[in-house]
Amino acid sequence: MGKLKGKGVMVALDTSLERAVQVVDALKNAKGHFSLKVGRPLEMKHTIHVISLLKQKSDLPVVYDGKIADIPHISSIIAQLAFDAGADGVIVHGFCGSDTLSALKELGLGDVIVVADMSHPGSQDFYAKHFHEIVDRAVQLDVDGIVVPATKPERIQFVRDRFSGYILSPGVGVQGAKPGVPSNYGADWEIVGRAVYDAEDPKRAAEEHYRCVLGER
Ligand code: XMP
Repeated sequence: MGKLKGKGVMVALDTSLERAVQVVDALKNAKGHFSLKVGRPLEMKHTIHVISLLKQKSDLPVVYDGKIADIPHISSIIAQLAFDAGADGVIVHGFCGSDTLSALKELGLGDVIVVADMSHPGSQDFYAKHFHEIVDRAVQLDVDGIVVPATKPERIQFVRDRFSGYILSPGVGVQGAKPGVPSNYGADWEIVGRAVYDAEDPKRAAEEHYRCVLGER
């Protein structure tokens, strides 16, 4: 545990395996602090073992973004499979409540990262209304990370003011938030997908983003 400390860019690999491997290879030589996020698209195409494969290719920390959302027993099985494959952290929906979050913490196998709100307009229907309660619960349970969208920077600040773990912030690039803004408001990891894996030069795109995270651009 602890591999996800520090500010950096987390690259979401929601692409083909071939492209994901190219991106990982490019990141190995890139200047900056990077980590990887494996979500359902890659997992469903290649099974959870895609995490083991990516771990063999680099030392970069890997988060499994299964957006786990089930009862504690089933959520634990899902998380265990991801940790067994080499994930350093797993992402779980905060709306599942304390028992599911506690069950993942009790596994003691890696970081537990909780979604507190989302970036898409539909998040206003339900998620956004319970943001403060979810953050309170996640802080009480001493989770490792909290996901807060880059499109709502004041919410990043809210979490930063009361949470000593790390903040992950998606929604930079294609979804509209500017690189560097989440970091300015206290995020540790800016999550970016298409703007890196669809870039002609993913190494350059990732490095430029990292400089924004440091406030150098
Ligand atoms: P793009 O291509 O938009 O990819 O840079 C973004 C990545 O982040 C995930 N994502 C979210 N995850 N809360 C989350 O927990 C959100 O609000 C959110 N918005 C985007 C998305 O799954 C993709 O991997």
